[in-house]
Amino acid sequence: MKKLVASILSLAVVAGLGTAALAEEAAKPAEHHEAATPHYPLKEPKEVDWSFAGPFGTYDKAQLQRGLKVYTEVCAACHSMKLVPFRMLGDLGYSDAQVKAFAANYEVQDGPNASGDMYTRKAVPSDYFPSPFANAEAAAASNNGAAPPDFSLIAKAREVERGFPRFVFDIFTQYQEGGPDYIYSLLTGYEEPPAGFQVPQGAHYNPYFHAAAVFAMPKPLSDGQVTYDDGSPATVDQYAKDVSSFLMWAAEPHLVERKHTGFMVMVFLLIFSVLIYLTKRSVYANKEH
Ligand code: HEC
Repeated sequence: MKKLVASILSLAVVAGLGTAALAEEAAKPAEHHEAATPHYPLKEPKEVDWSFAGPFGTYDKAQLQRGLKVYTEVCAACHSMKLVPFRMLGDLGYSDAQVKAFAANYEVQDGPNASGDMYTRKAVPSDYFPSPFANAEAAAASNNGAAPPDFSLIAKAREVERGFPRFVFDIFTQYQEGGPDYIYSLLTGYEEPPAGFQVPQGAHYNPYFHAAAVFAMPKPLSDGQVTYDDGSPATVDQYAKDVSSFLMWAAEPHLVERKHTGFMVMVFLLIFSVLIYLTKRSVYANKEH
């Protein structure tokens, strides 16, 4: 018995030392890091109350339609959505004829034709939102050296780390809106740089950008820029919310179905556990221990 207690104690001491050493190790580079460069983003993303949040969240189709309008009239001048076909717009409540007419506003490259040449033609619903630039180099060249990223998955590709203990709570609140929160914050977050801060030529100060204090995208939205026909406010705040929701839908069009399936699976597992427990009780009811 004494031996057992002794070995447990010594194990605990070793483990304790190990953790202390690890913690020290972890603390060292962090201190060094903070002294050298600030932590980006400078400001944490704002949390928006999205209609699609939580286990029963759904997309608001009117909002997605407005977001599409903001995307087409503003963002599409620089950002493509190469994995999103026009036919998907049917999900937003548009008829086949409307989708066809919408696609026809775009030109896409096709070919080669019988004589081996590439040619451009009007887009059809099975085509994808094309890039406004011929290639990545052309895109970078017209944007101060930084190519505007494709939008197909941007809402799932950007998420600022939330750290402990928030990421634990996030599991229970089902927080999955880091992407749209980030995009919304970025679009509404342009501000004057602090005194003494030198903004490089062609860059723009934005404390919400995840990789630095400045980045290459000029402030894309201003009040009154896009006309809404459903009476929603024509403000930067509303535009930013609508286009961020739209980008979430583009990246995850089946979010609502996924949440629904997840919920049904939880209900099933609950019923299944109860059944297993009752079975166990009835099987072992008359057994001696
Ligand atoms: C004039 C061209 C232009 C327009 C218009 C534009 N962007 Fe951008 N955007 C850029 C460029 C360039 C970058 C890359 C910036 C960088 O990496 O420094 C970028 C990057 C981004 C990013 C990624 C930021 C990151 O974390 O890497 C998001 C999100 C974004 N834009 C959203 C939008 C939205 C939404 C709109 C429409 C409301 C829009 N942009 C309109 C040029 C544009």
